Amino acid sequence: MKHLGTLDDPALLDALASKVADARSLLREIADDFSPAAFASSLGAEDMVLTDLIVSDRLDIEIFSLDTGRLPAETYALIAKVKSHYGLALHLYYPRHDLAEAWTREHGINAFYESVELRKGCCHFRKVEPLQRALSGRKAWITGMRAQQSATREDLPLRSVDLASGGLEKFNPLAAWSEREVWAYLKQHQVPYNALHDQFYPSIGCAPCTRAISPGEDVRAGRWWWENPESKECGLHLKRA
Ligand code: ADX
Ligand code: SF4
Repeated sequence: MKHLGTLDDPALLDALASKVADARSLLREIADDFSPAAFASSLGAEDMVLTDLIVSDRLDIEIFSLDTGRLPAETYALIAKVKSHYGLALHLYYPRHDLAEAWTREHGINAFYESVELRKGCCHFRKVEPLQRALSGRKAWITGMRAQQSATREDLPLRSVDLASGGLEKFNPLAAWSEREVWAYLKQHQVPYNALHDQFYPSIGCAPCTRAISPGEDVRAGRWWWENPESKECGLHLKRA
């Protein structure tokens, strides 16, 4: 995706500067008024923009990742890179071993390919339950979602009350950013990013549930590619949020 990160388009850089200023002031407001707040990072391109902003402004916002146990090797490499580049050890949350053992014993190791229900079951014990623990005791949480990412996100607000997490404030500071703005920021600030992005993976989740896309395909077309676009959310972000 590095080809998207051009820095020779003045209109793009103007729009980016104003969006960066807005994101910075929103993040500062969250840190000041919604402490303790946490940012959920999947280590995707958008999440690296937010990580860079939070670290450079030394904001009091914890950055955590949900290590599902099925992430691609490139994502683990980036977790290590974030430590060496920023001196930042992401707080990693893991699935409960009792739930993982029971689920895989009952359904099999790759049962998520068999039905949407089983896929959501796997996402539940690997992501949703750990997310609930990560958000426990928080006042707000932050994601790297953008409205343009998919049909399920087109009306994504900047801020909402997240009923799924028990009424926490949920912020999406990059809701109005374009993919080109994200990549221009990464280039401008020389932010490390997931090596899979340069192999036609614009959106990266677990290894068995993510594949490369073809030119012209939706950016999330490589996620759970065997399912209909309408079912492609893992339960971290419910529509009623
Ligand atoms: S999702 O369907 O997997 O949630 P996506 O990969 O587009 O979609 O991620 C959207 C946002 O959800 C990310 O910007 C991040 O805030 C959060 N998120 C997704 N996966 C993880 C993860 N493994 N750990 C922490 N946050 C995550
Ligand atoms: Fe399981 Fe795939 Fe969901 Fe990861 S994305 S938690 S492997 S179903």
